[in-house]
Parts: sequence; structure tokens; C-alpha cells
Amino acid sequence: MNFDERLTNVSIIGAAGKMGSGIALLLAEEMAKSRLKPENKNKRYRLNLLDVNEDALDGLRVYLKSQMVKAGEKSTVLLRELYKDREDLVENYDVIAQFADDALAPLRMGTDINMVKDSKVIFEAILENKNLKVDILKKLNTICAKDTFYLTNTSSIPIHILNNEAKLEGRIIGFHFYNPPAVQRLAELISTDTTTQEVKDFSLELAKRLRKKIVPSNDIAGFIGNGHFLRDGLYALREAKKLSKEYTLPGALYIMNKISQDLLIRPMGIFQLIDYVGVDVFQCISETIDHYIEGEDLKDDLLKKMADKKILGGQRSDGSQKDGFLRYDKGRPAGIYDIDKGEYKMFDPQGWTGDIDKKLGEYPSGFSPWKSLLVDPKKGDKLKAFFQNLKSSNNAGAKLAVAYLKNSKDIGEKLVKSGVAKTPEDVNNVLLNGFYHLYGPINDYI
Ligand SMILES: NC(=O)c1ccc[n+]([C@@H]2O[C@H](COP(=O)([O-])OP(=O)(O)OC[C@H]3O[C@@H](n4cnc5c(N)ncnc54)[C@H](O)[C@@H]3O)[C@@H](O)[C@H]2O)c1
Repeated sequence: MNFDERLTNVSIIGAAGKMGSGIALLLAEEMAKSRLKPENKNKRYRLNLLDVNEDALDGLRVYLKSQMVKAGEKSTVLLRELYKDREDLVENYDVIAQFADDALAPLRMGTDINMVKDSKVIFEAILENKNLKVDILKKLNTICAKDTFYLTNTSSIPIHILNNEAKLEGRIIGFHFYNPPAVQRLAELISTDTTTQEVKDFSLELAKRLRKKIVPSNDIAGFIGNGHFLRDGLYALREAKKLSKEYTLPGALYIMNKISQDLLIRPMGIFQLIDYVGVDVFQCISETIDHYIEGEDLKDDLLKKMADKKILGGQRSDGSQKDGFLRYDKGRPAGIYDIDKGEYKMFDPQGWTGDIDKKLGEYPSGFSPWKSLLVDPKKGDKLKAFFQNLKSSNNAGAKLAVAYLKNSKDIGEKLVKSGVAKTPEDVNNVLLNGFYHLYGPINDYI
């Protein structure tokens, strides 16, 4: 079966979730374009969107319609070409409206698993829970044809475990999109020893059509992206605990968040990133990776305390950020959670946070924030000069930042040494493309 034939009947399990809805958008758009090709005009297309949450499925239809109009607006030249035989479509907005209708036509939404039985490709994007994933994959394997491909979006569960326990005989691969799937350009591809060549070829072609940059990762829990992210986050938590003796825990969390954003020149501080992903999601990734990796402690009691108090971060349905480690005011960090008191301590530049900033010291010369370096053609030289000054600075903030950078580099090198990543470039590419860092962790700056 060739790629276009396989693409005629696709399903997404967990379609109304954060990742599922983004994957649905990407596939609906790709399917619509494939369907408009003259050779595919008489084929029947189906994109089955399965979720247990019916209300969320209703919201998904509205979301997909609005996004499809936006996608059409960005592709008017291509759409004009694809609809060139339709003389009734005069203005661009006629073409775009027709495209949105056509893109939504193959969609079937529902909660009954039997609706996916004819699918040739199934994306799995339900909760990050091994038993739930195995259960659903087993069920799918009994109702779907024995040549169905399974692409799982798991963040941390080894793919061979899912393959073996659900008895999929090499028809599963890890296709790990980043959040949000429609925007992020990276996907990690995780094959097992038994993943068939057909599944690999299909996944590579799909990535090409979706314009995703693929980085291969070996099948070790957490893969490259979460392998780095988890250890980076745990380092920040553990350093914060040490610093808390001098600065209190809220003060120490504030410091590690600030250092990791400003002095490492990253798009977000580490606790802001954990909030973005979800404190509960981060904790779940931590427990899964800890379960599969021996000889390393990859859990932290602070995460459990936050989750027990239901301080979870994540986003509301309108996309706005919920409070987690940090409190957000119009999307910007404005306070930090005091775990012992169970309340937020608001930043106060004239008071306690101002005092901490003074103790951390002035930023070394050559400092520019991530946003301005992102578009700077001379960013390589500027980063080199800044990190040189950071290393020679004696102030408290610079020392913490240098230690943080060294730890991040150690994590990257360990991912290569332990066989998670094939090369240092693969580690760097994941951090550059999936986390929008300006430089890879394995570098000569430190
Ligand atoms: N959120 C991220 O940043 C991110 C990034 C990359 C990968 N992932 C991975 O993607 C997967 C989904 O994560 P998410 O953040 O989208 O979760 P989510 O909670 O937003 O979505 C999960 C969806 O699955 C549905 N669901 C649960 N059980 C189901 C079942 N038995 N049948 C059908 N639907 C079911 C839920 O109703 C929900 O809509 C996880 O494996 C996660 O680790 C998440």
C-alpha cells in the first residue's frame, strides 16, 4: 500500500486532547491537500477522531474549522491551483471557504472505538499512562486489520514495551510531536528493534509532508527531549532546595527560574517551562522515566507535593497559562508558589525580589535577552562573548548559571554515552528545534 492510499483512512485516539487536537489539525490539512490531487479525486477519505470526552469533541470541530480557514489563508496560491477547475470560486475567500468545508468533510468524531476499525494508520495520543495505552492498543489490534500502523505520541514510555505488551509485531513507532504539534517544527522518531521498514518509511514521508524536522532517538525511556528536560528540571529543583537555606524556598525557586532564563538566554525559565507543560505531566514523565532507568534517582518530592496540592500549571481552553510554580498576570510571571504556606508570594522589585537580584549581582557585559538574540545574525559571536564574561564573573548569579550550563552539557553528553542519542548533534537539534534554545547543550561555551 503506498503512502497516499494509507492516508485515506486515519484515526486519532485522544483527539480532543492538547496533542491529539493539534495532530488532527495537521492531518486534516494534509488529507485535504492529498484529496484535491486529480489522481485522488474519487477516493474516499476518512479522518476518525476518537475521544472519551464528548464535550471536548464538540469544541474540537469548532477549533478545526477556524484553523482550517487560517491555513487556507496562508496557502491561497496553492489552493487557487488545486481549485483551478472551479469557475464558481471567484474570490480568494470563496476558495478558502470551500477548502475549509472540504477539509472538514472526511472528519468523523465519536466515542465508540469501533469507528476506527478500517483505519490504516492510527495515532495514539491518550494520557501518559502505560497500562491505559497498552489496553487501548490491544483493543485496537483486535478490531483493526493486521497491517495497521500505530504511531504513538508517548513522551516517555519505551516503545518496545507498548509493542510487546499489545502484541503489535513491529507495527508501532514513536512519533513524538512537540507541543503544539501544528507550530513546533520538531518530531522525534523512535523505532524499536522490531519496527518494520514500512512503518519507518511511512513515518519519514509523513514528517516530510508535514514539514517536520525529524530527529531519531533510541528507544530508551524519555528519549532525547524529555531525557534532557526532566534532568534539567530536577537539577533546578535540587539546587533550589540547597539555596533555600539562605533564600527561603520561594526565593530559591525564583533564583533558579531567573538564572535559567536570563543568564542561560533561554526562552523561558525552567519553572515557567514546567508550568507550560503541566506540573502533573512533568511529574508523570518523571515517574515513568524513573521506573525504566536504573541507577539514577529521577523523582522529586517537591513535584509530588505540588501535584497533591493541585498546583498543576497547564493551559485553559482559551490557551492562557494556569498558575503552577509561578503565578501569571496577563501571561507573565508575577509571583512564586510558597509550598509550605500554600499561597503565592508576589514578586516585589522594590522589596524581596529586588534584594535577591542585588545579591545575585549585575549581569555580565554582553547580556542580551533570548528574544533579541533570536533574530540577531551575529548571535553566535555574541553568545560566545557573553558566556566568556559569565565564566570570568565572580558574582553569585554567574556562578549558579555556569554550574547550570555545565549540568545541562553533562546531561547531553550522558544521553549520547548511554545510547539514547546517536550523536551530540541529535541532542543539540532537539534542544534547538523542540525547545527553541539558541545553542545546543553540548557546546564549547562552557
Ligand atoms: N502536552 C505536551 O506537552 C506533550 C508533548 C509531547 C507529547 N505528549 C504526549 O502526548 C500524549 C497526550 O498528551 P496531552 O498533553 O495531549 O494529554 P491531554 O490530557 O490533553 O489529552 C488526552 C486526551 O485523551 C483522551 N482519552 C483518555 N483516555 C482515552 C481513551 N481510552 N480513549 C480515547 N480517548 C481517551 C482524553 O479525554 C483527552 O482528551 C501523552 O502521551 C503525552 O505524554 C504531550
